[in-house]
Formats: sequence, C-alpha cells, structure tokens
Amino acid sequence: MLKKCLFPAAGYGTRFLPATKAMPKEMLPIVNKPLIQYGVEEAIEAGITEVGFVSGRGKRAIEDHFDISYELEHQIAGSDKECLLSDIRDVIDQCTFSYTRQLEMKGLGHAILTGETLVGNEPFGVILADDFCANSDSGVFKQMVELFTEYQCSIVAIEEVPADQTDKYGIVEGKEIQEGLFKVSNMIEKPAPEFAPTNLAIIGRYILTPDIFSIIRTLNPGANGEIQITDAICEQAKNRMVLAYKFKGRRFDCGSLEGYVGATNYVYDEYHR
Ligand code: G1P
Repeated sequence: MLKKCLFPAAGYGTRFLPATKAMPKEMLPIVNKPLIQYGVEEAIEAGITEVGFVSGRGKRAIEDHFDISYELEHQIAGSDKECLLSDIRDVIDQCTFSYTRQLEMKGLGHAILTGETLVGNEPFGVILADDFCANSDSGVFKQMVELFTEYQCSIVAIEEVPADQTDKYGIVEGKEIQEGLFKVSNMIEKPAPEFAPTNLAIIGRYILTPDIFSIIRTLNPGANGEIQITDAICEQAKNRMVLAYKFKGRRFDCGSLEGYVGATNYVYDEYHR
C-alpha cells in the first residue's frame, strides 16, 4: 500500500512574477482552486493519506490552505457559499499534512532527499503540482499506483514531447514490455535534442522505492549544477527494475504561461461552463 506522497514546493515561480512575489506559485488558481489542491486531490483519489510538503520560505499560505479557517467557516455557515469550501474540507478530512523546508534550492533530487524525514523507509509518491494532469476516467497517479501494486518498483510517468523540446525534461530510454509500459535502461536530464535517445519525457509524477534516498546522497550535481532525481532513478535502474509509464490523460505545464492558460480553459470548459 502506498500511503505517502511528497509535494516539492520550494521553487520561486519567477515565470509568474509579479503574481508570485508575495504568494507561492502553488497557490495560483486554476479557475477557483489552487494548483496544488488539484495535485493533492489526485493523490487522495489514488489512496494517499499522508501528504508531505517540501516547502521553503514564503510558502506559509500552503499550510493555511490545508487547515481549517474557523472564522471563514463561521461567516459562511448556512449561506449558499458554504458549498464552495466543501472540496477543501473533504481534502483536509482525508489526510494528514506535514511540512519540511528545503533550505537551499539544489534541485529536485535534493528536494526529495529533504523529504526523507517525512517519508521514512517505505515507497512513496512524488507529485509536481506544476504538471497539471487531467483524465476523465481514473487520475494519472491512480493509474501509476495500480501498476505499483503489480510491480513493486519505482515508476515514472512519461509522455511523448516534440523532438526539439527534450532539453526541458528528463528523457527515458527503455524496452516496451507491454503497450505504454517501458523497462527503463537509461535516463538523461534535459539533453539537447541531438543527444536525446528518445522523445519520451518524464512528467511530474513518480513512485519511488526508499532506496532512492541513499542513491541521491551519493550523487554529484548534474544538469544545471543541480542534484537531479533523474540521475538517481537512472542509477536505480542499473540494479533493479524501474518502469516508465505512458499515462492516459492530458498534461498541462503550469510552470509556463501557455500551459497555465491551457489548464484554466480546460477546467473552465469541463467543470464550470
Ligand atoms: C523536473 C525534472 C524533469 C522532469 C520535469 C517534469 O524538471 O527534473 O526530469 O521532466 O520536472 O515537469 P523541472 O521542470 O523542475 O526543470
């Protein structure tokens, strides 16, 4: 059973300045719900009951969001606005929230290692809320948990990206063992198109076995001078099975303005029109 999921949330969100000057980027709304709440709801749908945030300075609004606001609840009790808080109340009822701070921005691998104290020695999920994933049927993380139940190994979500965009992603190479499921043989973080072995890009959904922590500890800085989780998973794939899964659904890169607007239009069309 996978109970725990980490949400790295320490980044600055500079692409969204000035909106993110005093507000965490994870709290940017997609229509009327903060981006991070979609990610947490996706985790809960997959059976996660313990959410861990690897946060940083200036991120306190996230803690307040996943907490009860007595004054607000009291204000709107009995009014027609009460239903607007029902989703977040359900989220709060269904899991616990823990926080730890990443003191320096040394990359995603370092952020995940910082979360070790919240995870301990068991398999866990990682969701990058910036990658907003939508699927009308079962959520992307739930699809991965179902695979984990069967294979009990680390799994990354992947999708095909245009060949000229490999330098934005971790790129996976492997053997397709069943439709859409690859046994990973190699991974490269942000290769230039001429060095990318495939166009299969890692998307911000991971399930990791806990041996990943000791691997991260041995890593030297990789692409962009950062400790890369891609390098750790690649190392793991040398000794045991790691899977890459072409998920069913759509992904919007909400770290970019285009993706953010795309996600907003999608959610509005699907749920609010
Ligand atoms: C991170 C990972 C990368 C992955 C991407 C997905 O990169 O390092 O391997 O493809 O998330 O969004 P970042 O977007 O933080 O640069």
